Amino acid sequence: MQKVSVKLGKRSYEVVIGRQSLSDIGERIRTFVFSPRIAIISNPTVFNLYGDDIMVSLKKAGFGCSHVLIPDGEEYKDHLWAYYILTELLKNRLDRNSCIIALGGGVIGDITGFVASIYMRGIHFIQIPTTLLSQVDSSVGGKTGVNHYLGKNMIGTFYQPRLVWIDIDTLTTLPQRELLSGIAEIIKYGVIRDEKLFNFMEQKRDNILGLDFESLEFIIKRSCEIKSEVVSQDERESGLRAILNYGHTIGHAVETETAYSRFLHGEAVAMGMHFEARLSTIIGLINRDGLLRIKSLIDAYHLPSDLPRDLNADKLISHMRLDKKAVTGEIKFTLPERIGKAVLRGDINVKDIKKAIT
Ligand SMILES: NC(=O)c1ccc[n+]([C@@H]2O[C@H](COP(=O)([O-])OP(=O)(O)OC[C@H]3O[C@@H](n4cnc5c(N)ncnc54)[C@H](O)[C@@H]3O)[C@@H](O)[C@H]2O)c1
Repeated sequence: MQKVSVKLGKRSYEVVIGRQSLSDIGERIRTFVFSPRIAIISNPTVFNLYGDDIMVSLKKAGFGCSHVLIPDGEEYKDHLWAYYILTELLKNRLDRNSCIIALGGGVIGDITGFVASIYMRGIHFIQIPTTLLSQVDSSVGGKTGVNHYLGKNMIGTFYQPRLVWIDIDTLTTLPQRELLSGIAEIIKYGVIRDEKLFNFMEQKRDNILGLDFESLEFIIKRSCEIKSEVVSQDERESGLRAILNYGHTIGHAVETETAYSRFLHGEAVAMGMHFEARLSTIIGLINRDGLLRIKSLIDAYHLPSDLPRDLNADKLISHMRLDKKAVTGEIKFTLPERIGKAVLRGDINVKDIKKAIT
């Protein structure tokens, strides 16, 4: 078992990384002082795979356990399904000291965290992330939320879990495309913060894609450490945390323009990372060698590195101006200066942005 601490004073918590550990979760939760009623929030895909192990473990530890399932898919991460979960929690008589468990990927983690933050003005919640993307990114850091039809993640809160419990073995059932989507976020951490992690991703590609446990454990732990360091310094994204958005500015624009149906989040981020590296070269920051290494690593993991030719540059720019990260229309980019170091810039002219797009 590996542990990473997220240091946020009284709201600090541990990220525990291990294997075959779902049956131990009940005992671990018993160390907290929670009410005996617990609910698991999940979807049928993930619950059918891992729900029983967790229910048995919780019951063995003395908890009364119920579960609430919502349909599988990003389109169900909305206020209506959040309301449905709230209703089920009330029916199951969860109280102010109860805990809910998010069992699934980022969609389940985000909606469960949001519900936990508003149910009876806030109850405990635990993340059991089961996609690579949620293990290295969305389960840590306390951003919760649901989508609005006018924008993704537009309704939400900052609300930290009490524990993040990662069982790497859950990745064995994850579709390959979803696994690669998570890899994009790990490449991101390497580029913005850790050249050694980037080198490891280059050298151990076959081990990682072959789901070698030690390699996965290393990259997941290192990613959680980086996210934790950044979040501990800037929980509410008033500065530093924004560097975690490397690849996301245009990535989100691509997702919006393609109606969230053509690319997975990590695929859009992969194209965005290559775009921001190009932009960085254009304005004289990262050298061509660095740019080439970033593109090669994205390609090596079978992720898309080039923006689709059919997308219109002006439309992408207009989406970027509307993004919630843009302040008064100024588009912010995270630009790598070299592998392992990045800066946040809001002063890039449109000519250079268009040049990098095309
Ligand atoms: N809160 C944050 O900081 C943050 C950060 C990044 C992304 N996100 C959010 O995360 C979401 C994307 O998360 P995601 O990529 O995990 O997608 P997801 O939650 O939709 O999961 C992807 C698919 O994999 C399935 N699945 C999950 N675990 C599985 C397993 N072990 N075996 C088999 N199938 C499994 C799911 O049912 C789903 O069909 C988006 O809504 C995004 O906005 C949030």
